[in-house]
Amino acid sequence: MTRTYSKVEEILKKYEYKKEMLIKILLEVQKEYRHIPRDVVNYIGTALGIPPAKIYGVATFYAQFSLKPKGEYTILICDGTACHMEGSMSLVKAIEEEIGIKPGEVTPDLKFSLDKVGCLGACALAPAMVINDEVYGKLTGEKVKEILRKLKE
Ligand code: FES
Repeated sequence: MTRTYSKVEEILKKYEYKKEMLIKILLEVQKEYRHIPRDVVNYIGTALGIPPAKIYGVATFYAQFSLKPKGEYTILICDGTACHMEGSMSLVKAIEEEIGIKPGEVTPDLKFSLDKVGCLGACALAPAMVINDEVYGKLTGEKVKEILRKLKE
């Protein structure tokens, strides 16, 4: 696949091609492509004069970044202490039953991806999950399945 880099150029321009803005640039790339594509890493490396190995180092260090494509709906199940105590693992099981993926996986149609994360900062809502930027709390397996069914439509 040949990619045009106009979107990447736009992002680089926004941050004035500054090396110290690398994390912000990568955050926007992640949002745009739902992962950090390898060819884009090389492109950014050349544009900013940063060795690609260094960019990979940053991209693998922070949990927000993924080198593999994520789903259109990125599901984050909180497995922090409060959520774990309130049964977050039963939510993982419900997700697997409904859409057939485990944490770290993506559905074949790239519609959903699932990851377990540490505390989302919404402990009063335990057990909680985030889909894209929306927080869902006080969940049960049934509620999770209902939410996913709606998103599947
Ligand atoms: Fe889940 Fe804090 S432990 S939101």
